[in-house]
Order: sequence, then C-alpha cells, then structure tokens
Amino acid sequence: MAIGTLLYEGKAKKIFSTENPDHVVQYFKDDATAFNAQKRGTIVEKGVINNKVSERLFRLLEQRGICTHFVERLSEREMLTKKVRIVPVEVVVRNVVAGSLAKRLGLKEGNRIDPAIVEFYFKNDALGDPLVNDDHLRLMNVATPGVLRELREMGHAVNKVLKPFFTERKMQLVDFKLEFGVFHNKLILADEISPDTCRVWDMATGESMDKDRFRKDMGKIEEAYQEVLARVCG
Ligand code: TMP
Ligand code: ASP
Repeated sequence: MAIGTLLYEGKAKKIFSTENPDHVVQYFKDDATAFNAQKRGTIVEKGVINNKVSERLFRLLEQRGICTHFVERLSEREMLTKKVRIVPVEVVVRNVVAGSLAKRLGLKEGNRIDPAIVEFYFKNDALGDPLVNDDHLRLMNVATPGVLRELREMGHAVNKVLKPFFTERKMQLVDFKLEFGVFHNKLILADEISPDTCRVWDMATGESMDKDRFRKDMGKIEEAYQEVLARVCG
C-alpha cells in the first residue's frame, strides 16, 4: 500500500491519501491534548493502543450491522479507512453522570442514566466545541433534522453494542464521543473509539481507565490504556 500526501493533521491523528480516491490512511499519534489543546502531552504507545482498540470495536459494530469507515488495520499505527466528509458534530452518549454533564447540571458523578442520553457538540476549536441542540445545528446548516435523527439513533445503536461488550470485560462504559462522516451519500461511523474518546471505569475498583487520567493528572496513564487494550482485544 503506497501512502500518499498528508491531507490533514489533527490533535491525535494524521490523515494521508492513498492511490484509491475512496480510501485514506489514519495514522494514530501518541500526542495527547485536553481542554481544547491548552494542555499537551504524550502518552507512550497511545497511538498503537487506540488503533487496535478502534479496530476491535469497529469490527464488532460492523458485525452488528452498524456501518463504519473501517477497512483494515495496516500496521501498528495505521488504519485504512473510507474517505468521508466529516459531519462537524460530536455525538456524546452517556450511561453514567460524569465530566461536563456533572459540572453543567450540578449532578452527582456516578449516578446511572437509563435510558442513555445523547448530546450534540458543534465541532469547532475556535468556539471550544459548544453544546448545541438540534435547532442550533439547523440554524448553522450543519445538519438537517433527518441527519440529526439518524445521528441520535446511531448513537443509541452503538451504545447497545458497546455497553454490554465493556460490561462483559468488567469495565463500565460511562460515556463516549462519536464522529460520523458522509461516504457516497451515506452516513457512517468514523474517527476512532478508544480510551481517548470514552470514559471507562474498572468495575472492581471504580478507577478511571481512560484519558481522564491525563486530563486530571492521575498518573498510571499508560498502564490504564494497556489494560483497556488487554481487556478489549484479549
Ligand atoms: P465531557 O463529559 O467532557 O463532555 O466528555 C464526554 C465524552 O466525550 C467523554 O467520554 C470524553 C469524550 N470527549 C472527547 O472524545 N473529546 C473531547 O474533546 C471531549 C471534551 C470529550
Ligand atoms: N481532545 C480535546 C482537546 O484537546 C479535549 C479532550 O479530550 O478533553 O482539545
């Protein structure tokens, strides 16, 4: 596979062209950022772990009828994916109160949310990815009501697959962020699903096993990511 030119560099990944106009290569970096890149660091081997965890979860979702951009994992840090036009909406699904939800509404961290809730954030670094509702996204011509309905349904559908998968591996899937893209007029799941984009708590100890360890300087970050990899892929 000949890798082409750099098309885009984000905070955690680079995207390269390939000789197939329908495919790109996602390269997973070890760079970590938080709080809209005000905090920067490195998580050793994160790129390798996130690539493998994403592969496992995308394969699982495909088996369960959810279309994703995953084609194949090419190497430790490279994943071949379909070339999509990313919809600038971060779809967050929450099963447990944590993070910005606890802060915004003054709710107690750890309380279960059942049925799960879905939130939309407008993907825009200059604005700090604000929480938005359907009307805001419609106003900005970011997505039609039909697309928003589909995003919400796909968020719930992904949760129906991932929540029990994590539970079986003794991890509580607290919340996660999804991104979607358009591929030949079809909305498909894109980006990554990894400890960078999920909150995962060890069911035995309640300890964070995800990027919150980096955000909050909790230590043992690499160990937590390795443990998620072992449980998801082992
Ligand atoms: P939040 O509680 O900070 O809003 O985060 C909700 C979920 O989204 C959590 O699993 C972490 C993930 N997330 C990202 O993937 N990228 C981000 O930029 C943020 C803020 C959260
Ligand atoms: N990825 C985000 C950033 O740096 C923040 C986060 O994940 O908390 O901006």
